[in-house]
Amino acid sequence: SPSRPYEFIEASEPKPGVAQITLSRPKALNALSTPLITELNDALLAFDKSPNTSAIILTGSQKAFAAGADIKEMSTLTFSEAYTTSFIESWSSLTTLIKKPIIAAVSGHALGGGCELALMCDILYCTSSANFGQPEIKLGTIPGAGGSQRLTRAIGKARAMDLILTGKSFSGTQAGEWGVAAKVFGSYEDLMEGALGTAETIAGYSKVAVMGAKEVVNKSQDLGIRDGVEYERRVFHGIFGSEDQKIGMKAFAEKKKAEWTHK
Ligand code: CAA
Repeated sequence: SPSRPYEFIEASEPKPGVAQITLSRPKALNALSTPLITELNDALLAFDKSPNTSAIILTGSQKAFAAGADIKEMSTLTFSEAYTTSFIESWSSLTTLIKKPIIAAVSGHALGGGCELALMCDILYCTSSANFGQPEIKLGTIPGAGGSQRLTRAIGKARAMDLILTGKSFSGTQAGEWGVAAKVFGSYEDLMEGALGTAETIAGYSKVAVMGAKEVVNKSQDLGIRDGVEYERRVFHGIFGSEDQKIGMKAFAEKKKAEWTHK
């Protein structure tokens, strides 16, 4: 588990198998500064490696999941600096390096990079009053952490174009209707309870099956249907090599509860 004390996030383990990372930079509504992202990636990697973790909740405060990239930090950045330091590229570590499922629990503002960060997660839960949007156009710029790609895949070109060109927000209720959010909750407390319940459910399954399931669903976003189905079948075949597959199917046949190795 993460051992370092963090300045801009909190890392905890609320239940066995469940890790939680809480963005905590209240003075700037959790604006995603480079130091915050460095801490986030550090904690995510530590939980991903930890044998005690099966599922990760990523959340902010009731008021803000995250109000975007840090505008003050970015305001004077030059093209050369942005290009040579690959500004924002490390944000995607969440989608490329982390193999365990991440549940975003979104309350309040999820704007710009905050919306993009939520969209990078595997499951998105939110409150009905959550405030999503890509307002970069109002700042004289465009989404830079995958918003134009992930939001467009999630809600279609017509709606994404309308939102990204106008900078207007959409509510948590709308996110649910559009299928961006898997579940929408009436209150912050219900949101956090719902995210924890789902994380516990996931953590109760075989870890190798959970990680395999995440991997193949995410492949559907990159591959055509034929390659995707083939990829899925390869991983499915591979899982016959796991102890937990034998345990799970034997337990079913014997009408017993499976006791996973979690290896
Ligand atoms: N960056 C830096 N600081 C931010 C910030 C951000 N993205 N969002 C909020 N803050 C700061 C404010 O400057 C303010 O600081 P001070 O008290 O020092 O003035 C503090 O957080 C509280 O914010 P507000 O007073 O504005 O709070 P509010 O409740 O009146 O409004 C808000 C909330 C509508 C979210 C408003 O803060 C806002 O519009 N924030 C910016 C949202 C935005 O444009 N995000 C996109 C950023 S660009 C991006 O993300 C690029 C990308 O694709 C990666």
